[in-house]
Amino acid sequence: MSLQQFVDIHSHYLFGLDDGAETLDQTLRMLEQAADLNITHLLATPHATELTDEAFSAQVVERFAAVQRAVEKAGIPVKLSLGAELFFSRRLMDWLHYPWFTLANNQKYVLFELPLLDLPEGVGDFIFQCRLKGITPILAHPERYLYLHRKLDKLYAFFQQGCLIQINAGSIVGQFGTTVQNLALTFVKEKFVHFVASDAHETKHRNYETLIRSYEELAKFADSAFLDQLFFENPQKAIMGQAIDVHEVDDAAFGNKKDGIRKWTERFKKKFFS
Ligand SMILES: [Fe+2]
Repeated sequence: MSLQQFVDIHSHYLFGLDDGAETLDQTLRMLEQAADLNITHLLATPHATELTDEAFSAQVVERFAAVQRAVEKAGIPVKLSLGAELFFSRRLMDWLHYPWFTLANNQKYVLFELPLLDLPEGVGDFIFQCRLKGITPILAHPERYLYLHRKLDKLYAFFQQGCLIQINAGSIVGQFGTTVQNLALTFVKEKFVHFVASDAHETKHRNYETLIRSYEELAKFADSAFLDQLFFENPQKAIMGQAIDVHEVDDAAFGNKKDGIRKWTERFKKKFFS
């Protein structure tokens, strides 16, 4: 096993809140798996949706405390923090007061996701509102939004506004198909990504082992310092609310202009379809 230490900012180990772990026992099995793989700090990111209200928020907080107590009692050597995967809606800023809105309640970073089928209006405005408040939004798994594959200029514009990018370990190893995999790999090659996370839901398929497998896949071509940023340094900084250094994205390949995007797409096709 690799000696790399991992910090994971995206997984669904809090039981009974979403499509992740269903019972406390499953939560503990997941966290045991993480500990065995040298994933030392895990942010809990239950889905927060339009249905989120005070009662749900109280349940998230209570569930997190219960899991922390159980992990301590079981002696599982992992550190846990609380956050959420916010499903994009125009109401998001109304949730600012919830203690899970920002990562570890640090008021510095949020993790949000978009619908899988269509790019909604108002994403740029949400990023702008976050930046006004000194919060850096992190977009979860953009490689999985197929509509963005044809609108990478939109994603680049979000990045230019100050949004960071988290890709899924499962995308890198092909769990979501070749198209998604190719784009995820391209993001890494172009250093147009800031976090790789497990998005683990259980122990068998969408699990923490996938995070390690994705690291091993990327280690075949990416330098270890950059991988350390993606899998350890940046996740840790995001949880701690510290600033993250962003690599410059090759302007000629991925610039503002339509032409740049076209060239980038051509390169992408050449790399993976020739
Ligand atoms: Fe997720």
